[in-house]
Formats: sequence, C-alpha cells, structure tokens
Amino acid sequence: MIEEFFRTKNQKIIYIREARVEDADRLHAFYKLVTSETEYLITCSDEVLSSSEERALIKIYEKLFNRLYLIAFHGSDVIATLKIAGSRRKRMAHSGELSIAVKKDYWNQGIGKKLMEIGLSWARNILERVELNVVDINKRAIALYEKLGFNLEGIKKNAVKLSDGYHDIYMMAKLF
Ligand SMILES: CC(C)(COP(=O)(O)OP(=O)(O)OC[C@H]1O[C@@H](n2cnc3c(N)ncnc32)[C@H](O)[C@@H]1OP(=O)(O)O)[C@@H](O)C(=O)NCCC(=O)NCCS
Repeated sequence: MIEEFFRTKNQKIIYIREARVEDADRLHAFYKLVTSETEYLITCSDEVLSSSEERALIKIYEKLFNRLYLIAFHGSDVIATLKIAGSRRKRMAHSGELSIAVKKDYWNQGIGKKLMEIGLSWARNILERVELNVVDINKRAIALYEKLGFNLEGIKKNAVKLSDGYHDIYMMAKLF
C-alpha cells in the first residue's frame, strides 16, 4: 500500500495514498472542479463520473494488479490525483495509460512531479511501458513529462477542439 507525506515548494504538507471506495464523493467533487479550471483535461465538467461510477472505478483499480490510483490530500481536501491504467487485455497488460490532475491553487508546487515519481516507481515493477496524451499547448505538463523521461511517439493532428480552436494531441511514452 502506497502512503507518503510530502512537503510542497511553499511548505504545505501533502498526504498521498491509494484511492479507497469511500473517497468517491470527494473525488467526484474534485473532478467537477478541476475540469472547470482548465481545458487541458479533455473531459468537460458535465462529463465527469458520478460518485457511484467513481466508486465502481475504484473497485476495478483495487482488483487489477496493473492499475494504480493515487490521491493527494491537503488536510481532508483532495488536491490532486494520478491514475495509471494497465490494459485489461493480456497482450497489452504490460502497458499503462497515465492521467494526472492537480487543483489550480496547487499548480507549480512540485505536487505533479511528486505524484509522477511515486507512480513511475510503482510502474517500474509492474509495467514495461507508460503512455499518455497531452495537448500541444500544455507546456507545464510537457516539460514535466520530458523531465521524467517521456518521449514523443506521435502527434494526432487537430485531435481536440478547445475554445481557441483545434489543437494537436501529443502521444508520449516512457519505456522501462
Ligand atoms: C500539469 C500538472 C499535472 C503539473 O503538475 P504541477 O504540480 O503543477 O507541476 P510541478 O510543480 O510538479 O512541476 C511543473 C514543472 O514544470 C515547470 N513549468 C511550469 N510552467 C512551465 C511552462 N510554461 N513551460 C515549461 N515548464 C514549466 C515548473 O517549473 C516545474 O518544473 P521544476 O520542478 O523543475 O521547477 C498540473 O499543472 C495540472 O494538473 N494541470 C491541469 C491539468 C493537466 O494539464 N493535466 C495533465 C493533462 S495531460
């Protein structure tokens, strides 16, 4: 079971642990908020999972050996999450898709990097490849992923339509 405390760049104490079923309501509220704060999360706030769907998802993560769902808390508030979803298909079970979101008030304090480091050290023992998708203008995320050893594998042209028009999606991956 992963459980860690972490001090942010501005001295906040953050507690990181794996998601539990009883977190579902707080996670639903967290995703409602973060999806309204940025367009870099492709999901819109009216598309986030309901609490009961979130509960079902956590159960799947708990059951599958190649999945990890981390939550970062400040006090009792959920302030960030990281998921690595290994494939359910046997021929791709060595490969996982990573997604991460940090609440806007907490950006640039090292929380994303810390979650990624914990997630990647877990993945190193379980998976052989971690992949992700990122919008071309999400410079903070791209810089973080490159720093942690992700490489660009391909570009999906005009794959997403944001408020200022079409954008490319970068497919990035890290192989262990
Ligand atoms: C992207 C995200 C996960 C990063 O998490 P974070 O906690 O803000 O990031 P960190 O503070 O750990 O690290 C960010 C790094 O990028 C750097 N950075 C910030 N803005 C940057 C920019 N415009 N260009 C390049 N680098 C930048 C920071 O200096 C920092 O590097 P350092 O640790 O060497 O100082 C977070 O900002 C977030 O959730 N954003 C909205 C949702 C999102 O984009 N999710 C990812 C979708 S693929």
